[in-house]
Amino acid sequence: MCGIVAYVGNKSAAALLIEGLKRLEYRGYDSAGLAVVRGQDQGIALCRSVGRVSVLEARYAKDAAIYEGQLGVAHTRWATHGKVTEENAHPHIGATRSGHTVALVHNGTIENYATLRKYLEGRGHQFYGQSDTEVLAKLVAELYEPQKNIDLERAVQLALQEVTGAYAIAVICDREAHTLICARKGSPLTIGLADNAYVVASDQSAIVAHTTQVIHLNDYQVARLCAGPSDHGSNEPWSIDFRTTTIDNVTVEQQVTELELDLQQIELAGYPHYMLKEIMEQPEALRTSMTGRLDLREGRVVLGGLTNMSRDLARARKFIITGQGTAYHAALIGEYLMEEMARIPCECEYASEFRYRNPVIEEGTFVVAVSQSGETSDTLEALREARERGAVSLGVVNVVGSTMSRETDAGVYLRVGPEIGVASTKAFLGQLAVLTMMALYVGRRRHLSQQTIGELLTELAAIPDKISQVLKQSEKIQACVEKVVDRNNWLFLGRGYNYPVALEGALKLKELSYIHAEGMPAAEMKHGPIALIDEGMPVVFIATQGNQYDKVISNIEEVKARGGRIIAVATEGDQHIERYCEGDFIFRVPHAAEPLQPLLTTVPLQLLAYHAALQRGHDVDKPRNLAKSVTVE
Ligand code: G6P
Repeated sequence: MCGIVAYVGNKSAAALLIEGLKRLEYRGYDSAGLAVVRGQDQGIALCRSVGRVSVLEARYAKDAAIYEGQLGVAHTRWATHGKVTEENAHPHIGATRSGHTVALVHNGTIENYATLRKYLEGRGHQFYGQSDTEVLAKLVAELYEPQKNIDLERAVQLALQEVTGAYAIAVICDREAHTLICARKGSPLTIGLADNAYVVASDQSAIVAHTTQVIHLNDYQVARLCAGPSDHGSNEPWSIDFRTTTIDNVTVEQQVTELELDLQQIELAGYPHYMLKEIMEQPEALRTSMTGRLDLREGRVVLGGLTNMSRDLARARKFIITGQGTAYHAALIGEYLMEEMARIPCECEYASEFRYRNPVIEEGTFVVAVSQSGETSDTLEALREARERGAVSLGVVNVVGSTMSRETDAGVYLRVGPEIGVASTKAFLGQLAVLTMMALYVGRRRHLSQQTIGELLTELAAIPDKISQVLKQSEKIQACVEKVVDRNNWLFLGRGYNYPVALEGALKLKELSYIHAEGMPAAEMKHGPIALIDEGMPVVFIATQGNQYDKVISNIEEVKARGGRIIAVATEGDQHIERYCEGDFIFRVPHAAEPLQPLLTTVPLQLLAYHAALQRGHDVDKPRNLAKSVTVE
């Protein structure tokens, strides 16, 4: 949800900023821009454009010399306040009383922007757009008074004291040609410490090409990063230094940490799209996720992140699992797993609902936040609300060092590697694997026998190979999609553990191919949606063998009787299903215990959505209107 990148150092900033924006583009791609300080008192060069980073790059390349400078900020936008226009693209500019210019990029939302704008208009500032960020740029400029010792750092601190809302910002001023100021509250921001330079970005993927040494800013913190020629007499030609303070100007110590990410992990590695790469690497991702965590000999799960609270977990009275989007679907499966395996009451709820509805949190409640990014605003706020009310908080998060991972009492990382495609795929399977391991971990401490857990662990360990089997059907799925991709309404139906898979299948199809799709429990269809079924409407059933197989078959009959076209995800060797659908319309998954089936049945639906989007001519990695990490409410 908006990506920001900033640089101060001994290299040319602009090309480096554009490179960073490309890595962050999955966070938003409505418009993009950059601003570079051309040297002490030489002004700021600003370049902005509607559309993708490639449009900005072309515009920049035409006049590259104008953007020569070693300090700059850049942004790729996912619009919130104000339409997608060049005026509303970041960076935003403010004019100081001393005749200098401030440029600012922002990820988040300024809630009191209307009041601030009125005040600033009264002070003579002219606004060119509707963005809340423009207000912040002008507020910093208004407060900047170097003759009164209010330099850029202080002006930013003072401005942020006036602001309500969420922000990660990077700010520059042409009077301070070697100083970059950044700050955060609510939105993520990481500072990379490179050789003779600092690189700041919304996430690590834009930093890892430069350094693995990073600082994570906390809420209400401001960093002042300086990099410039050394004073005469110094042996080093270039010197860098930084300090961090709160917005009230209290100095804070920072810990430098090492990134666990390498450049290769965020490259396409020969695949045409990140989404396909991430679908295809799921077997390996799950192996990594489970490495060292399944002790098959002893029949137990080893989760280092939970060791310190294993006794409390065994005595837990209630679990609440929460998340948004795909993570919410994983949370729903987590609810089934936790109740079945650990026999502890469990509720699953959208984080956005949970945080505003006065939930009851009693003694012994654990709240589990599920999130790929660890930054989703709704999930983060739900987590904070739950902690405030006395719940123990656990994170099921992919991004190491993310805000959720730092704010939870304990947790388990997904360890599936960076996910770049906007539509979540391998992170979903990682979330399922971790929630399964957590349920078994707690269950073993309560009532699950060593034998039962041993059997499930053996099955779980075999899942990556079984996923590889499913992936071999990609071409077959593509052929099936060709026959139905023109249909604009689809249903996805499943029961039990496969009901959330139906939700996830429908979400994948709509977010990537813009086909309207609904997922629901198969039995629910009769209570309304059956009215939608007409001749040839595609209805995807997750119809694997298990407790409710016969019931699902009855639902298939009901759809077939009304002319619907059945697409089935079925167990290998099940011949009965062939009565209801054409051979090309059956996607096979190997046999698995029911709680583990979603780890397999989701995969053909990911491929289905991928091929449908391609056949409809859409950009699968950057679906329209979406952003990977939603850091606004
Ligand atoms: C966005 C993404 C989804 C994702 C959801 C939650 O909506 O487009 O793919 O599932 O956010 O993200 P999280 O990072 O919390 O898992």
